[in-house]
Amino acid sequence: MNGRILINKNNLINNLSEIKKLSPKSKVMSMIKSNAYGHGMLEVANLLSKSDAFAVATIEEAKYLRDNNIAKEIVCLQGFSNSDEYIYCSKNNIRPVIHDMYQMNIIENTNLSKKIKLWIKIDTGMNRLGFHNSIFKKVFDRCKDNKNIEQPLGIMTHLACADEDEDNFSDKQISLLENIVSDINVELSIFNSAGIIKYSKKFENSQHWIRPGLILYGINPLSSCDEINVKPVMNLLAPIISIKKCKKGDFVGYGQTYKIKNDTNVAAVGIGYGDGFPRRLSNIGKVFSKGNIFNIIGRVSMDIIMIDIHDKDIKIGSDVELWGENISIKDVSCSIDAIPYELMCSLGNRLSKEYI
Ligand SMILES: Cc1ncc(COP(=O)(O)O)c(C=O)c1O
Repeated sequence: MNGRILINKNNLINNLSEIKKLSPKSKVMSMIKSNAYGHGMLEVANLLSKSDAFAVATIEEAKYLRDNNIAKEIVCLQGFSNSDEYIYCSKNNIRPVIHDMYQMNIIENTNLSKKIKLWIKIDTGMNRLGFHNSIFKKVFDRCKDNKNIEQPLGIMTHLACADEDEDNFSDKQISLLENIVSDINVELSIFNSAGIIKYSKKFENSQHWIRPGLILYGINPLSSCDEINVKPVMNLLAPIISIKKCKKGDFVGYGQTYKIKNDTNVAAVGIGYGDGFPRRLSNIGKVFSKGNIFNIIGRVSMDIIMIDIHDKDIKIGSDVELWGENISIKDVSCSIDAIPYELMCSLGNRLSKEYI
């Protein structure tokens, strides 16, 4: 018996509608990279058909969508790395992001039979991807003069600290970008989930694109915020595969890291780090079953975790929830100094997915 991921289709679709309410005039580029944050890229693409575009990180991800008949515009955040990929983008309605001079050279040394739409990424201070603002004008002019490139160009940046409790950097990044684009006609895209909640009303118009990821999947990146009503999409479940009685003083699991305090029933649950369930949750994590919260005791092993179910009436074959509607993935990730993105993206192929 395997663990499984239940995806709540209605919650996903409703989350997109809620996000649109925050910035009704903006276009939405739904982030479905990394297998849609572990939710299944194709299924999510089909469910989020009301998006204006999808965004993925790599050309391989974009190809996977096209090869599986997803027709909507796809933004490729890392862009192309050679002229074949550049040509592939132009032929297949993939809108690459350019962020480095070597891509400008590919553009100028490749003939296209069809015009291409581009995003130019500016680094406004995150120092990850993007052209430094001191060379932006050159890049912009070269793209503007290139007959293969459709106008208007898109200008994109990424906020480094939008989801931090104390964020005194986003305003600087936003003003820098505002200055750069003040006298040019471009499409603009700045905001990830946290940015959308905090700032997107500021730029609302049809040339503005928001880039929701985490909130699409029902997780609010901000610690306090009631402006958005999104619901969790992913429920991670696993079956009880064995129940045994343990006595006070018995040890549980590898390394004997947990000692039973009072006689109790211990259940084995069929999920482990082989499924991407973090080993760091050993002796820390909790699960939900039929209105009860049970502690994970002992070490998480490859295929099994152990939980203390006391004298509760739990049956072999029944499911426990590791995270989802009853156990918040944010709380789980906080307890081990991780982030929800990391937990969702790490889930393995042994887990089946059901869309309900
Ligand atoms: C460039 C870019 N934009 C938008 C997002 C979406 O971020 P979030 O999931 O926080 O909404 C990401 C996520 O990693 C990103 O890399």
